[in-house]
Amino acid sequence: MKAILFALTASALFLQANCIPAPAALETRAAEICGFPTVPLYQAVSDSISDRIFTTDATEVEHALESGVYVRQAVLAYVYSNTTGPNVPGAVPFYRLGSAAKTDHFVTTSWDEVESAVATNGYEYQGIVGYVYTEPSAESGCPGTVGFYRTVNPQLEDHYYTTDAATATSVAKSGYLNQGIVAYVFPPA
Ligand SMILES: *[C@@H]1O[C@H](CO)[C@@H](O)[C@H](O)[C@H]1NC(C)=O
Repeated sequence: MKAILFALTASALFLQANCIPAPAALETRAAEICGFPTVPLYQAVSDSISDRIFTTDATEVEHALESGVYVRQAVLAYVYSNTTGPNVPGAVPFYRLGSAAKTDHFVTTSWDEVESAVATNGYEYQGIVGYVYTEPSAESGCPGTVGFYRTVNPQLEDHYYTTDAATATSVAKSGYLNQGIVAYVFPPA
């Protein structure tokens, strides 16, 4: 009985850290490297203005929905918070940009892209939503990460993200260009 309880507790803790069971050799490393809490990365979606707000701030999601302009939300992934992230080896900031004129938001790990979007493309820098990896689990040493695909629709000026490779490919039918994996995150469920 005790053994079962212990196993359940251990696996609950393991799930909490969002790490899938790793090969024995990796376990010690995984506990050190990704034994940090993660938080949901939400999107709040507006159909009327073709925009998605990406945030780890649940209050921002609530306010967006209260406005009536954004009509639904979903958890896209789990990431490290912007306060935990700086302590996580290998994790990098996920910067957010927004443009009121384009009614668009997007996130990127590239500071160069932040600078060029601000300098030449009319976006405003809106801070760090969380921390993610730029390399897959085998290289980051943290098991359980998946690719985070970015797609963009130039006509709608809308960015759409998914951890599902098949979805990233299929949205091309509705005018979204698949830009490939832009980060490694923990899956939404
Ligand atoms: C961290 O996230 C909070 C919201 O969760 C936000 O208010 C704050 O500005 C962010 N910090 C940075 C450095 O972007």
